[in-house]
Formats: sequence, structure tokens, C-alpha cells
Amino acid sequence: MSALLQIKDLDIELRTQKSAYKVVEDINIEIGRKQTYGIVGESGCGKSLTAMSIMGLLSNPPLRVGRGEIIFDGRCDLLKLTGEKMRKIRGKEISMIFQEPMTALDPLFNIESQVVEVLRFHSNLRENEMKETALEMLKKVGIPRAESIMKEYPHQLSGGMLQRIMIATALICNPKLLIADEPTTALDVTIQAQILDLMNELKNSYDTSVIMITHDLGVIAETCDRVAVFYGGQVVEEADVVTLFHNTAHPYTFGLLKAVTSLGDKNKGLYSIPGVVPSADKMPKGCRFAERCGKRLDICMDTAPGLIEIEEGHKCRCWLHERGYSNG
Ligand SMILES: Nc1ncnc2c1ncn2[C@@H]1O[C@H](COP(=O)(O)OP(=O)(O)O)[C@@H](O)[C@H]1O
Ligand code: SF4
Ligand SMILES: [Mg+2]
Repeated sequence: MSALLQIKDLDIELRTQKSAYKVVEDINIEIGRKQTYGIVGESGCGKSLTAMSIMGLLSNPPLRVGRGEIIFDGRCDLLKLTGEKMRKIRGKEISMIFQEPMTALDPLFNIESQVVEVLRFHSNLRENEMKETALEMLKKVGIPRAESIMKEYPHQLSGGMLQRIMIATALICNPKLLIADEPTTALDVTIQAQILDLMNELKNSYDTSVIMITHDLGVIAETCDRVAVFYGGQVVEEADVVTLFHNTAHPYTFGLLKAVTSLGDKNKGLYSIPGVVPSADKMPKGCRFAERCGKRLDICMDTAPGLIEIEEGHKCRCWLHERGYSNG
């Protein structure tokens, strides 16, 4: 059986009256059935835009897909679907949860009507069946006093509770793919762990594939089977999660790892990779990470490395791993 989602040669462009440039470039990834696939990288690396292109929600203009295909379920290219067809898939077969549940929920409607709304659009259930299904779903995501919470409004609930409601809303139609864009970033650490546990549990019981987007390799370790590391709008390393952590290849991934392992070491303080992600309109012509890389070679400044397979199922975009330039 084919992969659930195949992103092929995807470029996303930003066009203004003055200029046009790629903000995401040459993405090739495959999400397997029942797989949790991580996309990790610092802010500004193109993670959310990639997710929005899958959902058909890029804000056009100024953003648009310049090239590529996104094949869903082996049956259609999402980029070629009409708006109407995409609306039928969105929320039913592919759903998404965001970092800030407050922005996704409508402050004017109570929780019940917002969860029921999804069923109204995508199912043929009767009114009382929809309410029952919504209530059952809220219980499944661990909402206490679910009957009374149904009558409450978003501002009356905590961030952790709202994120559970978003998860309930996203899973209520039993989607094949759930995209979670930094779902725990806005939550404190204890609640973060509870939400990740809940997602792991639900994913198993619903057989849903998940794309987990995060800046934190710790979240990847807790949840994912495979991972793509994004930097400057490109994939710089891709592997199964065990390989990524135990046979790390790209200097940027090493930097992200160091940032995770320094957490909790109070004497050292929090490590962050020196420097910043280059902005998309000023991408260097050589390696995009070169300015910040402690292992830089001469070639790195002028010539961009390609993404190559360095061992089976493990890709890396770095001159250190190109034959003839590497010593390890
Ligand atoms: N609507 C927009 N207009 C202009 N630039 C944008 C817009 N959305 C995103 N970008 C730019 O595209 C790049 C990638 O953005 P994004 O996918 O949101 O990054 P991430 O989710 O990894 O933090 C960033 O450099 C950002 O500044
Ligand atoms: S290509 Fe060069 S600059 Fe880029 S990550 Fe590899 S060693 Fe560092
Ligand atoms: Mg983002």
C-alpha cells in the first residue's frame, strides 16, 4: 500500500510586487500509515507553511505553491483539488491543531456548538446523536465534568483544557491524518507531558497518522517514528527517530540536540545555537547553515550541498557527508 501522504518536490513561493522568492524549497517526504512523522526546526524554517500547504490554507497572495505534488492516500493530488473538494477532506480526513487553541475556537460560541459544528458539516447524524458523539469525544480526551464544560465558553477554560477540546474536535471524524503544529508550545511543562501522552494514546486507538511539528527535539523523542529536520526552508536531515538521535549527522541537528540535553542542567543554563536562521529573501548561496556552523569547510560558503542518502533511510544535506569532502 502506498504512503498516506507523499510530498514531492514542494516549493512554496512568496510573491510581492517588488520580488518573488522561495520560502520553502524542494521538500520530499512521505508519511506512512499510522506513523507519527516529526518536522523539527527553529522558528522561521518553513514548518507551518508546509503544513498549511497540505491543508490548502496558504494565504494566497502573497504565498503560493510554486512546484510540487502532495499525494494523499494514493488517490489525489491535494494541490489540484477544487476548494469544495478540499473542504470535504479538511476536518474529516485531514485535520489540524494549532499552538494557540484560543485563536482556532470562536469566543462567541460554547464548546458544544463548536464540536458539533464539525459533525454537522461532515456527518449525517441527527442533532441528539451529534451531541452524544461530542460528549463522548470530550470524555475520551480526558475532560472532567464534560457535560457542564460543553455549555462553557473558551475564555472560561485553561490552555490545557482548550487544547484537549481542539484534539477532540480534530479527531471526532476519525481522520486519516492529524497535523499538530506546536500543540504543546504554549502550555506549561506538566500539561505539555499530559497532552503528548494523550496524543500518543489516541493515535494508537484511532490508527491516525500524525505530523508533529515542533521546535523541540524532546517532543520528537516522545512521539515520533520518523523525523525531518528543517532549516532555512529545506530538509537538512531525515531519518527514523532512533537513527536521528543515535547516529546524528547534520551539525544543525547536533545543535538542536544540545539545546534539549542542556535543559534541566541548571549549572549550564539553556544552550541555544548562536546566530539566527537567515531570512528567506537573503538566503546565502552556499550552505544555509554556514554562518552558524562550527564545522564549516571552505566549500560550504559558496556551494550549496545536496540532500543525499548517507545510509539506508537516512538523508543529510551537508558537505561533511559528501564523498571526497568527509573524513567521517
Ligand atoms: N504570510 C507571510 N508573509 C510573508 N512571509 C511569511 C508569511 N508566512 C511565513 N512567512 C515567512 O516564511 C518563513 C517560514 O515561515 P513558517 O513556515 O511560519 O516557519 P515556522 O513554522 O518554521 O516557524 C519565515 O521566514 C516567515 O517569515
Ligand atoms: S555543509 Fe558545511 S556549513 Fe553546512 S552544515 Fe555541513 S559543514 Fe556546516
Ligand atoms: Mg510555525
